[in-house]
Amino acid sequence: MKLFRSRFTVFLIISLSFYSVTKADEGMWIPMLLEQLNQKEMQTMGMKITAEDIYSINHSSLKDAILLFGSGCTAEIVSNQGLIFTNHHCGYSSIQSHSSLEKDYLTHGFWAMKQSEELTNPGLTATMLVRMEDVTAKVLAVVNTTMTEDQRDKAIEKISKEIAQHAVKGTHYAASVKPFYYGNQYYLFVTEIFKDIRLVGAPPSNIGKFGGDTDNWMWPRHTGDFSVFRIYVGKDNMPADYSASNVPYQPKKHLEISLKGAEKNDFTFVFGYPGRTQQFLTSHAVDLTSNYDNPARIKMRDKRLEIIANDMNNDRLIRIQYSAKYAGIANGWKKWMGEDKGIQRLQAVTKKKILEKEFMEWVSKDEKRKSEYGNLMNEFAQTYQKLKPYTMANVYFSEAGLAPEIIRFAYGFKKLIDKCKDKNSKAEDIKQSADAFQKGLAGFYKNYNQNTDKKIFAELIKLYYQDCDKNFHPAIFSKINSKYKGDFSQYAEDVYRSSIFVSQEKTAEFLKNYKAKDYKKIEKDAAYQLALSIYDNYITNIQDNIIALNDKTDSLYRIYVKALMEMQPGKRFYPDANLTLRVAYGKVNDYYPRDAVHYLHYTTIEGIMQKEDSSIYDYVVEPKLKSLYLAKDYGRYANKAGELPVAFTATNHTTGGNSGSPVLNAYGQLIGLNFDRNWEGTMSDIIYDPSQCRNITLDIRYCLFIIDKFAGAGNLINEMTIKD
Ligand code: ARG
Ligand code: GLU
Repeated sequence: MKLFRSRFTVFLIISLSFYSVTKADEGMWIPMLLEQLNQKEMQTMGMKITAEDIYSINHSSLKDAILLFGSGCTAEIVSNQGLIFTNHHCGYSSIQSHSSLEKDYLTHGFWAMKQSEELTNPGLTATMLVRMEDVTAKVLAVVNTTMTEDQRDKAIEKISKEIAQHAVKGTHYAASVKPFYYGNQYYLFVTEIFKDIRLVGAPPSNIGKFGGDTDNWMWPRHTGDFSVFRIYVGKDNMPADYSASNVPYQPKKHLEISLKGAEKNDFTFVFGYPGRTQQFLTSHAVDLTSNYDNPARIKMRDKRLEIIANDMNNDRLIRIQYSAKYAGIANGWKKWMGEDKGIQRLQAVTKKKILEKEFMEWVSKDEKRKSEYGNLMNEFAQTYQKLKPYTMANVYFSEAGLAPEIIRFAYGFKKLIDKCKDKNSKAEDIKQSADAFQKGLAGFYKNYNQNTDKKIFAELIKLYYQDCDKNFHPAIFSKINSKYKGDFSQYAEDVYRSSIFVSQEKTAEFLKNYKAKDYKKIEKDAAYQLALSIYDNYITNIQDNIIALNDKTDSLYRIYVKALMEMQPGKRFYPDANLTLRVAYGKVNDYYPRDAVHYLHYTTIEGIMQKEDSSIYDYVVEPKLKSLYLAKDYGRYANKAGELPVAFTATNHTTGGNSGSPVLNAYGQLIGLNFDRNWEGTMSDIIYDPSQCRNITLDIRYCLFIIDKFAGAGNLINEMTIKD
């Protein structure tokens, strides 16, 4: 009896603490609801500030220092002159676009020692949230149960537009209304968009990308993943297009930086723009993603990456041209592998099936539920059954069909053909069009290597042919097959010998003195013919079906999520990430990835030196960094033990888009920049595991050490508010 009782108590304690851990770590919360839903828990966990300090519409708050950087990262303001931090990989394409063999900022880094040296980045924006508002009642007032899904969508789209327009009338702000919980709730977002964002500084790649794609998505990590930009505005401190006379932005708020770091179990939170999570997916969807979609994509990217990596290693110019592309391709590829492993380890499909069974039992207990939700799971099963072939066809279209860049590029010329065939086009219009194409060439070819692309073409078109269901083959495939009998290398040779589009010279020559009837030459072009067939097949056989079926699953999820909330009234839900501003909170923590292995929660410069290998590109250590290390010249950036910290892990629930997000301490001071998740935790977009899921943060002390000691950019340090 005694034994039983004590075991029982132990069990109770474990299950309770498990519950509270789950509660604390999982979730990306809506800033305006923190006070109501999270403040108490955050304070219990150690937070010393209030929800109002984080998000307020009455006075300046931390939110006024947070930005959506471009369209997929986060940045934060760190000085009263509009200086911002984001990740190196978020600034990567900007840094890359300023780089050439002569001025190779990617390799050597870039530092503006005065503001006049800061570099402009056309097209780059930073968006600040002015306020948000729950507009669910207004939006849902326009729908009723007799509407078809299509009518419903249209009505919601219309009212959303009206609400947004009304919200920003007479201001320079932008606004949009976004669905939450698959359209069970709606929020209005009013934003201010800054359009003159200049590059201020970036470390060399062997710091900013140290460990490269080898270490990407993994812990222990030693990447100095940061870059520095500045917001410029008109003289009135308002957003303005680039102009030489623009001035640095004076923000309402900039983040204070703490050099104290964080110890294990210290409270931290992440404030940023997570892009997409899918916590509510049914078993059918998880099966489709992890057993079909991801593996096919991985297989195709394996090939593409192998080809690019080889060429990058053999040619410095190709490295500059392809590094950003490579990083993008590799990032998804590696994440999906980790995600699939995690999904299997957690037996996510089985867990989802159990939940669905519980759900159906709950439904069966009540007549009203039966009529509302009784058929839901069948409908999910049927819809995913239908969706599967189209999903896979889409995977082959995008991962193989569009892999050779010449396909996308050649297809772009369809516009010119259409113009030429249009009887209403005047010779002048056509000339103008051809000139516009002429102007765009340099941008494309700057980062294009014909031979690399040809190799990708040969391998990926072959895979497309072999692996994709014949019913979804582009029509031209049968012709190609009868001519080449599986010899895709020969096919590639022929295309890249004959096509106009393989080089800037050939295309430019073709466009010079372009006449209307020249469109026939494009129509005969081998690359264009393939491109046209690939896109035609997508447009006529795949696209609309996917859209329709996804709309269907979305509407099923709307009902499912509503029902789950009814079924679990005590549970605190958070909406899936949708690239709106969120707060995730947790604690600095280590983890045990597998049998006998324990990963500490932080890394130091010692690890950089241990990884050093001058023969491997990803592990070359910059000589200056090495001498600072040898002299132990860490200045005020060392921790209490005298070590120079580089990165740390914590239990904040983050996803893509959170890159560059500030990681803040209990007082709301900046202690690091979020830049990744750990390999064992990459399935957290779909299923969260508190024992394994960790976000990876660049310690702000390493970032400042690089700016100060390594780059000698004391001018930037002086702008910041740094607390010892
Ligand atoms: N995995 C991180 C994220 O999802 C970093 C990606 C950039 N780094 C890289 N080595 N590709 O964005
Ligand atoms: N590196 C990711 C990004 O660019 C963040 C890592 C993640 O997906 O959690 O947003």
